[in-house]
Amino acid sequence: MIRAGSRNSSSQPRVAIIGAGIIGLSLAFELAFRRGTQVTLFDTRACGRGASWAAAGMIAPAFEAAAEAGVHPRLFDLCLESANLWPDFAAEIERASGLPSGFEPAPALAVAMEAGEAAHLAAIGRVLAARGVAHRALSGEDVRRLEPALSGEVLGGLELETDTRVDNRRTVTALLAALMANPRVSFVDGPAPLRSSGGRIVLEGHDPVIAAAGWETSVIKVEEQGALYSLVNWDTALDDIDCHGGQMLSVAAGEGAPQRVVRAGHVYLVPRGGQVVIGATMETGRVIDTPEDEVIEALRAEGVKLCPALAGALVTERWAGVRPGTPDHAPFIGETAAPGVYVAAGHYRNGILLAPVTAQIIADQILGQDAGALAATFTPRRACSATA
Ligand code: GLY
Repeated sequence: MIRAGSRNSSSQPRVAIIGAGIIGLSLAFELAFRRGTQVTLFDTRACGRGASWAAAGMIAPAFEAAAEAGVHPRLFDLCLESANLWPDFAAEIERASGLPSGFEPAPALAVAMEAGEAAHLAAIGRVLAARGVAHRALSGEDVRRLEPALSGEVLGGLELETDTRVDNRRTVTALLAALMANPRVSFVDGPAPLRSSGGRIVLEGHDPVIAAAGWETSVIKVEEQGALYSLVNWDTALDDIDCHGGQMLSVAAGEGAPQRVVRAGHVYLVPRGGQVVIGATMETGRVIDTPEDEVIEALRAEGVKLCPALAGALVTERWAGVRPGTPDHAPFIGETAAPGVYVAAGHYRNGILLAPVTAQIIADQILGQDAGALAATFTPRRACSATA
């Protein structure tokens, strides 16, 4: 037990959130600070130290969702909505915690070093133009005027107004500090004692239950007649939450290090706290705890190809994490087939970006408010498959 927390002082049951990553923490923040609800957060690991800590902190609706093949048809809308929520979300976290939220808005650069990447950027540009979303097409010279240390092989790029960054480790730290100081919030360092009774999943003193345990959501345990079963037995849709390992590194930000987020194909450079994060591998089906030397070296070399000024930079950290995904790369947000049990998981590469909107949707749904038509399309009950 991290903190015993307050006893329930009202007749309202507490909301149980299983998983204290950025999704669970943001939901607890929404409920406790904005809606006046009592919350218990359960986690078997260190709070906020999973995918939320491993992330690079990009808020990238345009690059990640505008022109991705096979994704949920409304994913870009959800990403844009959440990006718009970030400034207020960050300001409230700062007010509540007295700590920096880490939100550092500045347009990202997406650049192309080969024809296929240029074609992808052109496709993003067309979607943004059709939607009236601010962006600017750049020549190779324009790109190097903005970031002089980038490779002479950069053919051109896009400046993306919607895409920015946050120091996600600061966000998680500030969220935790705010929640730990709030008497409506309790933390439990261990599994939630869920049990099945009369065909219903119950957690004593709590209702509803929100499953927000990232890639491990489907295997949250439920006790029935002395035996433990996985939550997926109550809703087979949760079986679609898969895992995508990622490895990355950071280097010291010396002379010529980029000032903005720079993306080229699957490689990105993210300035963060005097360092540059170089990411990331996408290793579907792999749960990776420990970064691998040859993978990290290959990634470093790709970062250096994009920004040769990083060639001699000291490697300051190497790490690995696991992203939770779904077949259409959009999160499951909503009530499961088990009444009173909601899911908020499967955010794929967009967990940091989608935290505020996910929190608002689940809060609306469990408090009986209208979460809107867009939110309804992310139900775990949807037919969820890649369309390409
Ligand atoms: N959001 C970028 C990544 O997941 O690597």
